[in-house]
Amino acid sequence: MENTLLAPLQLGAYALKNRVIMAPLTRSRATRPGDLSNELLATYYGQRASAGLIITEAVHVSENSVGYVGTPGMWSAEQVQSWQLVTAAVHAAGGRIFAQLFHTGRLSHPFFLKGQAPLAPSLVRAQAQVSILDYQNTLIQVQAGDVKEMTTEDILLVQKEFVQAADNAFAAGFDGVEIHAANGYLLEQFLNPHVNIRTDEYGGSVENRARLSLEITSAIVAKHGAGKVGIRFTPFGQLHDMTAYDEKTVRATYYYLAEELRKSGVAYLHLFNQAAFGTAEMPAGFFREIKRRFQGVLIVNGGYTIDSGSEAIENQEADAVAYGRYFIANPDLPTRIAQQLPLAEADAATFYTGGATGYIDYPSFAAAGPALELQN
Ligand SMILES: Cc1cc2nc3c(=O)[nH]c(=O)nc-3n(C[C@H](O)[C@H](O)[C@H](O)COP(=O)(O)O)c2cc1C
Repeated sequence: MENTLLAPLQLGAYALKNRVIMAPLTRSRATRPGDLSNELLATYYGQRASAGLIITEAVHVSENSVGYVGTPGMWSAEQVQSWQLVTAAVHAAGGRIFAQLFHTGRLSHPFFLKGQAPLAPSLVRAQAQVSILDYQNTLIQVQAGDVKEMTTEDILLVQKEFVQAADNAFAAGFDGVEIHAANGYLLEQFLNPHVNIRTDEYGGSVENRARLSLEITSAIVAKHGAGKVGIRFTPFGQLHDMTAYDEKTVRATYYYLAEELRKSGVAYLHLFNQAAFGTAEMPAGFFREIKRRFQGVLIVNGGYTIDSGSEAIENQEADAVAYGRYFIANPDLPTRIAQQLPLAEADAATFYTGGATGYIDYPSFAAAGPALELQN
């Protein structure tokens, strides 16, 4: 019997050919200056077009949102043009691709922001390192910058920036956008009650902490339709100095988000269980509870094998599974699943190094096959 990961799936506006989703993966290969996409990215994403859906690496929504060297942007006309290389390559190979849009918030540094302090919900600096360039253009690690507490005007501007970036993504030929409300970036900074200690309508209660994520989602949905918009969360996440908070409040926060997003009818919710990256275990049954409240397509992610991924779908805990590291090393992952072929392991040493090595040189099994047979 065919693996359930390979069954087709209606996800919002799109009939996906399978449920094997390529997770968003920052790979630091954008062209500088300009934070542009390029031919290298087009080759890499084109190689992976057999995924049911590709979600791009996190893409900066505006100049004010930048916190990484080598991560592409979605604010300039030049960037929009550069992304057309990627969307054309993926579409030519029969794939679907959404752009993941993010604002790094407090996980940045004046280096990126013309000397300005990074924006944050409150005056709570991230106890985290960011990478900047020194005077010799060498990457160095420094403490994230002192922050500026966002005014209401700053919040409105960020909303506009997300909407503009979504407009730009569609202009560049993307099939949709994923709003990045995970992994300790700006939108999760607003969700976390230790990082967001505001006393206005964007802080305090569950409704207030969730407001920015939901307002941005609604604004993009209003312009482009719910079927082309997804959102990613990391409940119980602690990456990037997201201080853990009590289980009851975590549940209340994400149950509320799931219920509100059901009303807006977004194409999918995407949950990354960071236990795969060493943070606390997620309570059993949590994904199922979110799925029950959201009622739409749930993509799960974080340390899934092929077996545990297909089980999650069979047990109706999820509708699709996103794979990160497996997609780095196995551009033909759905074929390997279909034919029960061995999976290659990704080399962490080349995750963020730039260049073609460790990026577009992982072969499909068909290409590697003869070499493997020779070795045996
Ligand atoms: C090299 C690398 C880069 C990543 N970049 C992003 C990113 O840009 N956006 C995001 O939401 N998650 C990012 N993640 C997390 C992955 O999307 C995924 O959640 C994680 O790798 C767990 O899935 P896996 O066990 O299948 O690899 C990244 C992970 C890795 C290993």
